[in-house]
Amino acid sequence: MPRKLKAREKRQRQITGKFLKTFLPLCLIAYFLQSLPFLVNTSAQFLENKLLPLLPAPIYNKYFSSQRPLLFALNECNDLSTTNKTFLITGGNSGLGFETAKQLAKAGAKTVILGCRDTIKCLEARLLIDIARKTECNNDGPSNVVVLESSPLDLDDINAINTFGKTIKSYLKTHASGNLDVLINNAGIMGSTTLTFNQHTGGEKQLHTNHLSHYVLTNLLLEELRAGGGGRVVNHSSLMGFMPFFWNSKDFNFQSRFFHSLIAYGQSKRANLHFTHKLHSAWFEKYNISVVAAHPGYSRTNLMTNNWQFAPAALRLFVSTNKLMSMSSEVGAASQIRAAVDETVASDSFVGPLLATLGPAVVLGKSYKNIFNYFWPVGFSETEGDRLMDYSAQRTGITFS
Ligand SMILES: NC(=O)c1ccc[n+]([C@@H]2O[C@H](COP(=O)([O-])OP(=O)(O)OC[C@H]3O[C@@H](n4cnc5c(N)ncnc54)[C@H](OP(=O)(O)O)[C@@H]3O)[C@@H](O)[C@H]2O)c1
Repeated sequence: MPRKLKAREKRQRQITGKFLKTFLPLCLIAYFLQSLPFLVNTSAQFLENKLLPLLPAPIYNKYFSSQRPLLFALNECNDLSTTNKTFLITGGNSGLGFETAKQLAKAGAKTVILGCRDTIKCLEARLLIDIARKTECNNDGPSNVVVLESSPLDLDDINAINTFGKTIKSYLKTHASGNLDVLINNAGIMGSTTLTFNQHTGGEKQLHTNHLSHYVLTNLLLEELRAGGGGRVVNHSSLMGFMPFFWNSKDFNFQSRFFHSLIAYGQSKRANLHFTHKLHSAWFEKYNISVVAAHPGYSRTNLMTNNWQFAPAALRLFVSTNKLMSMSSEVGAASQIRAAVDETVASDSFVGPLLATLGPAVVLGKSYKNIFNYFWPVGFSETEGDRLMDYSAQRTGITFS
């Protein structure tokens, strides 16, 4: 064999060897990570269905009976058909809000009202949910998903929230005896390159959309949440809410501290937890309205890519590995759904995936004291919460008492 050919063959062998040594293990790791959500859920199912029932009956009944499911999934087509409940979901046209609406509608909720800023997207979402209900649940009955077409819910516009409030009140009066069982404050944004403020409240953009707007909407719906004798409010938070240096209750509008869009996002998501706790204190005993916070772990939605052009390089890198590390929005919605429908979840609880970013939805503790801040509850005091409520009252003119 000529020497040139031999050298080339040697080089090819070296390249193949390098490939096998480096890329193959990387591919295997990637494959493993990709299967992680599936593996976690399957193991949890095995634990719940096969291993836990082997425990002595008194222990099993006390801690793990069907009243306290370890795994929570609402995939059954008739789970909710007997509960006759009406739900409102903000941001119900996309990602986790859409999945939540779909699973509730399939499970037979009486009514699922979608609150969206874009009516066309909202109608598309309703169509997709109706199709899923028909094809996956063989349910040919009239749609249980409602879009209030005359009142798009643009959370950035306080006037639109007020108009939506009026429309939904009159809808509920005629269709549900004025009763709203569950309000799911789900809509949210992540990312804004520069420090901008909402023109109505003057609040920092993400804090406005993710917290202040829902603060206003929730207050508007008090009478409807009370009407059935025990309504529920669910606030959608995030693990980013636990970042230690993102919260500064003396400077919510970044007047004298460094602004970064992720810091502002984290602040807004911690605000969701503070709001949960404070609303629980104000409304639970007085009106029997329970308030629960949830987080979805890390789920594949439009959240990070909506503002893609503004995303910092590190976030882009993170998102490009999205499919390897995240759950589908179908699975990610489980925390929010459990928070909304599981009556064994007490007011002021915090629900999220078992393994932080993935896994079945479990109760992780209270909004102020949970797995993530148990040993370091800095920034979660009553005073911090009071400061948020004062700021919110000052920005919106509304107080919860
Ligand atoms: N995905 C995750 O891993 C993750 C992690 C932690 C927390 N969360 C939280 O989960 C919630 C849902 O987000 P997602 O992941 O499902 O993202 P998504 O797919 O982007 O959905 C966000 C929804 O909010 C709506 N929205 C945004 N701004 C609005 C406004 N001004 N008025 C009315 N609606 C508005 C969007 O409407 P348009 O379609 O019109 O934009 C969309 O329906 C958010 O609160 C987010 O912070 C998500």
